Amino acid sequence: MAKDSAADRNLALESVRVTEAAAIAASRFMGSGDEKAADQAAVQAMHKALKRLAITGTVRIGEAAKGDSEKLYVGEKIGTGDGPKVDIALVALEGTTIVARGGPNAMAVLAMAEDGGFLTVPRIYMDKIAVGPGLPDGVVDLDAAPAENLKNLAKAKNVSVGDLVVCMLDRPRHAELIAKIREAGARIRLILDGDVSGVIAATQPEAGVDIFLGIGGAPQGVLAAAALRGVGGQMQGRLVFRNNDEKAAAQGLGIQELDKKYSVAEMASGNVTFAATGVTYSAMLEGVRHVPGGAITHSMVLRSMTGTVRFIKGHHDFIRWPEKS
Ligand code: FBP
Repeated sequence: MAKDSAADRNLALESVRVTEAAAIAASRFMGSGDEKAADQAAVQAMHKALKRLAITGTVRIGEAAKGDSEKLYVGEKIGTGDGPKVDIALVALEGTTIVARGGPNAMAVLAMAEDGGFLTVPRIYMDKIAVGPGLPDGVVDLDAAPAENLKNLAKAKNVSVGDLVVCMLDRPRHAELIAKIREAGARIRLILDGDVSGVIAATQPEAGVDIFLGIGGAPQGVLAAAALRGVGGQMQGRLVFRNNDEKAAAQGLGIQELDKKYSVAEMASGNVTFAATGVTYSAMLEGVRHVPGGAITHSMVLRSMTGTVRFIKGHHDFIRWPEKS
C-alpha cells in the first residue's frame, strides 16, 4: 500500500464489506441479553468475509491470543494470499454488552495498515485523551490536569469551558476525573460502552463532543488512533497495567517502555484504512435496520492517504445473497 493504487482504494470498500457482514450478524442479537452470542456472530461473519479478501493479511489486534480464540486471533494469517501484505486491527463487535441490551454506539470495526503499522497491544487498558482536527498541536496533553486541558481547549475553540462537552466511559474508576471536570465547569457525556465511537465523536462536530477522556480498552485505543489517521485530530494513549501479568503480556509483544505516552502516529502509522459499520445507533452511524428481504447498513470508511471520509449506506438483498442474512 505504498502509493495511492487502485488496490489500496479497493481495499477501503472491501473493508466496508467486512464490517457490514459483522454488523448484520451481530444485529440479530440486539436486546437478546446474550453478549457472547452477539460477539461470536460478529467474529464468525468477519472471519468469513476477511478470508475472501484479496490480501495477504496478518491479524495484529484481534479477538484474543492464539489458543484462546479460534478465529481472528492475534497472528492469524488471513485473506486469499493474492493481494497486498497488510496488518489488520479489529474489534469484530465493539460493544458486546451494548448489543445485548440494545443500547447505542455498538459498531463492527476494522483497520488495515502496512506491515508493522499498528502498535500491538494486549487486551488491557489504556488511558486516552483525544480532540478533533483543526486545533493547535499539543492543545491537550495526557499529563496535564483536566482543568488545564479544558482551559486550553476552550481557548483554542474560542468558547468557554462551560460550553465544552467531555465524553467518557461511565466507570467507577473515573470518579476522580469526573469530579475534576465538574469542578472545572465543563459538561460531560457519560457513555456506558463503546469508546472507539466516543473518540471518533470528538472529531465530528455534529456529534457534539469536544474531547474524549479516560481509561478504556487498549485495542480500542489503537483502532481509534487508526480512525484519527483518517479524520484528523489528536490523541494520546498510555497503557494502564493492573498487575505484573499485564506488564509481561505487553513486554511479550515487544513493548519495552511501559509508561510511554503514544501519539496517533505511534499507534497507527503508514497508510491506514479504517472502516466501521453501526450495529446499533450512534451519533455518527445508524444501526443495522432489518427490512423485508434484507437489511440496511450505515458505515464509515476513512483513508489516511487522502483524508477522505465516506459514509456508505448499504442496501443488502438477502434473497439474492442468502449467505448474508
Ligand atoms: P466490549 O465490546 O468488550 O463490551 O467492550 C466495550 C468497551 O466499552 C470498549 O469500548 C471499552 O474500550 C472497554 O469496553 C472498556 O472496558 P471496561 O468495560 O472493562 O471498562
